[in-house]
Amino acid sequence: MSRMLELRTRQEVAAFFDEAHALAITEPSAFRAYVDRARWTPDLPNSAWDPHGPEYRAWVMERYRDATGHEYGVANEAHAFDEATLTQKPYPYNTGLAQEVGMQLVAIGTVIQAINARPGELVLEMGVGWGNLAIQMARYGVDIEAIDIEPKFQRLVAIQADRAHVRVPVHVEEFLSGLQRRPDASYDVVLFFEAFHHSPDHLALMQEARRVLKPGGRLVLAGEAIEPNLEYPWGLNPSGIAVYSIALHGWLELALREDYLMDCFSRAGFTTEKIMGPNAAGICYIGR
Ligand SMILES: C[S@@+](CC[C@H](N)C(=O)[O-])C[C@H]1O[C@@H](n2cnc3c(N)ncnc32)[C@H](O)[C@@H]1O
Repeated sequence: MSRMLELRTRQEVAAFFDEAHALAITEPSAFRAYVDRARWTPDLPNSAWDPHGPEYRAWVMERYRDATGHEYGVANEAHAFDEATLTQKPYPYNTGLAQEVGMQLVAIGTVIQAINARPGELVLEMGVGWGNLAIQMARYGVDIEAIDIEPKFQRLVAIQADRAHVRVPVHVEEFLSGLQRRPDASYDVVLFFEAFHHSPDHLALMQEARRVLKPGGRLVLAGEAIEPNLEYPWGLNPSGIAVYSIALHGWLELALREDYLMDCFSRAGFTTEKIMGPNAAGICYIGR
């Protein structure tokens, strides 16, 4: 077994990124094994800080600067991909990896079952990305609209939806301000699939989601980076692959400890059910 690679300092994170990036280019088969050995173990936040407060958030954003060398802004969530190529072969098919394709398809099936939306219900998907989940739901009659900060996804989802003969309108908006401008009691479901962990505004997002939900509506978080034993309530995801993505793309890849997430749900007025999936991307937390 190879040794774990503990990254403590900004310099160690930079050296890890350089090595991983060189492998990604020259030896892709060794890349994954290398990044999976690494874990970021930064100095912990002060335990007296409120995880919803400004000092705590500043600690998270300082770690982000350590990894990227710059400040975080939502513009860093941009995706640099070639639209023409990926319109033909979107994620997960573009990976060419049986494991990745299978994992996504299984997760999508599990999440659809867990949400259990009826045809005609209105769903708002936050961070729709490739639109794979939204399009499958639209195909059996669920009304679904979406928010994403990246305009390329708006165009890509329009093309994919057209091919499937469904409508999935995507609004280019930021999560929190997008929810804030929607009227009360508009949706049956607000859904995040692998997207909630890109925002630092956890409680505010849940409170706004609750406001826009109709009575009896549900907030679904699926496939998020939730760790029961994370060393801190929330912060940068310490896994090697997440650290690599943060440094490469500038995306905010967070991990949240489960008790912190449950506390956010409850402060926002939800009771929560956890549904286990056959893989991490299929795990759902449903707030009612
Ligand atoms: C990991 S992707 C998940 C994509 C999608 N749910 C899927 O399964 O393909 C996260 C998505 O959230 C979007 N995003 C990240 N932060 C955002 C924000 N603050 N406001 C709106 N969209 C955001 C990104 O552009 C990206 O499409």
